[in-house]
Amino acid sequence: MTAPAAATREPPAPRHLLDFGGWTAANVMALFATTDVMAQVLTRTIKKVPALQGFTVATLFFEDSTRTRLSFERAARAQSADVISFAAGGSSLKKGESLRDTLRTVDRLQVDIYVVRHPASGAPHQLARWTDAAIVNAGDGRRAHPTQALLDAYTLLKRIGAPGDAPFAGKRLTIVGDIDHSRVARSNVELFTLLGGEVTLCGPATLVPREFGDLPGVRLAHGLEEAVEGAHAVMALRLQQERMSAGLLPSLAEYVARYQLTERVMAGAAPGAVVMHPGPLVRDLELDSALADGPRSLIEEQVANGVPVRMAVLYTLLVGKR
Ligand code: CP
Repeated sequence: MTAPAAATREPPAPRHLLDFGGWTAANVMALFATTDVMAQVLTRTIKKVPALQGFTVATLFFEDSTRTRLSFERAARAQSADVISFAAGGSSLKKGESLRDTLRTVDRLQVDIYVVRHPASGAPHQLARWTDAAIVNAGDGRRAHPTQALLDAYTLLKRIGAPGDAPFAGKRLTIVGDIDHSRVARSNVELFTLLGGEVTLCGPATLVPREFGDLPGVRLAHGLEEAVEGAHAVMALRLQQERMSAGLLPSLAEYVARYQLTERVMAGAAPGAVVMHPGPLVRDLELDSALADGPRSLIEEQVANGVPVRMAVLYTLLVGKR
């Protein structure tokens, strides 16, 4: 006997995108199907649809950004939403206004969805408790950066993915560098394993917390060659020196010698393996410049895919929930 349709139907995507808690692989794959439609819109002469006409998107950035902020604004406008932008540097926070009062003030401007970046882990979760609008986490401290992981996974899906809800089964992603301070690493671990893949984390012992090795589908490697061997994709991360206390690295020269990703290191990866970086990239530190600009590199594709992925996120949270 077949189960009734209601019993087999996937639950809708959660109301907010704070991390991947509550998101199923099917929710993510449905979002990627919407992303395909948005990507098609962006190939047209008129790269704009009325899908979010009448909605207001507010970007609240309490930390610097180039890619995330610009691509969210592009994603909102390409769907005819109104956009208001808040940057902490030019705001009344400097005059002593609290985060809660700032949100209350912006809320009165009839915002439907907030895109929030904050240096404190958990800040977007707190904002979600204070407003009826939807919240998208655009990066909080070292905790999560879900839309970066979505655009990374979408980019990889096009190269190494298989059909179905476990498109990365049998695939290995290696992430190299400052894992400890990286919200990108945490979100990529969450998402790549949710979609069936395995993740290897590599970096100096001071920058790779041992607890990561207890997560399902994750292994740790402190040697770069061992970490890259057989990988289908290798992602280099920036050293977040602004979040580091002194003494975590002996010297940048030693880091480059042991952990810089180069074509020579990539020779041990799976045939045709690709190289990724979420940006911002510090050339010739974590990643050799020739590799960053070479045929293995997906860095520009990652940035370009950020727009349709974020269009799909805004659309799913604003319209999909209805
Ligand atoms: N990858 C990323 O979050 O870049 P930005 O800091 O420029 O937004």
